[in-house]
Amino acid sequence: MARTPLIAGNWKMHLSPAEGAALVTALVPAAAATTAEVLVCPTFIGLAAAANAAAGSRIQVGAQNCYWEPQGAFTGEISAALLKAAGLSHVLLGHSERRQYFGETDQTVNQRLVAALEVGLVPVLCIGETLAEREAGRLQEVLRQQVTGALAGLDAARLATLVVAYEPVWAIGTGVVATTAQAQEAHAFVRSLLVDQLGAAAAAAVRILYGGSVKPDNAAELMAQADIDGALVGGASLKADSFAAIIAAV
Ligand code: 13P
Repeated sequence: MARTPLIAGNWKMHLSPAEGAALVTALVPAAAATTAEVLVCPTFIGLAAAANAAAGSRIQVGAQNCYWEPQGAFTGEISAALLKAAGLSHVLLGHSERRQYFGETDQTVNQRLVAALEVGLVPVLCIGETLAEREAGRLQEVLRQQVTGALAGLDAARLATLVVAYEPVWAIGTGVVATTAQAQEAHAFVRSLLVDQLGAAAAAAVRILYGGSVKPDNAAELMAQADIDGALVGGASLKADSFAAIIAAV
């Protein structure tokens, strides 16, 4: 099954609105020159400026999180419905930094995912094990729990747009990239979990991105693997030259 690659930049808590807009503008030629989908995920405060800069280009803009209630007395939160109304296309969910620092659980990821699907945002579900979990031989158990927890109650029809990002926590921001064999093995396992949940045809259509120290010099080899359908890039997505080089590596 041919899957359109997706190259996504997670800007985390970096870049002012003006800096983000300038970065988007600088990335327009790279996005025009690839058949891959290109996505940037600025901070909430940078979304509008990035979306304006991306208008008319092949660059899509998504958020890094959303709340599940559509509106209400939830000070400091942003709903999936509000993101959709702002013209955004995607939302990252369950990033390991959300799990680690902000109490995100598989259950709250599931609630956010349901809300995102409800309004037509493409959910990018982030999963991945810590080094301690990997070393304890718990890789498959952790991934199974994260996937089944996040997708609980959802069937193939509702998950038609689902994107998964496998991001081993030990590879995030560390400069330590998973080997291509480690990454492909984990991706193939995640796809087998998706087969269990969605059936073979729907699972074959899901893009599974790799994230964790993706750089221009390792992107091509990672993305050449059978079950790696793109990248979720942190640090290297903050500079036009490195992110453009990763886009060009597809
Ligand atoms: P780095 O590319 O900086 O390792 O970050 C990966 C990541 O967390 C993307 O969501």
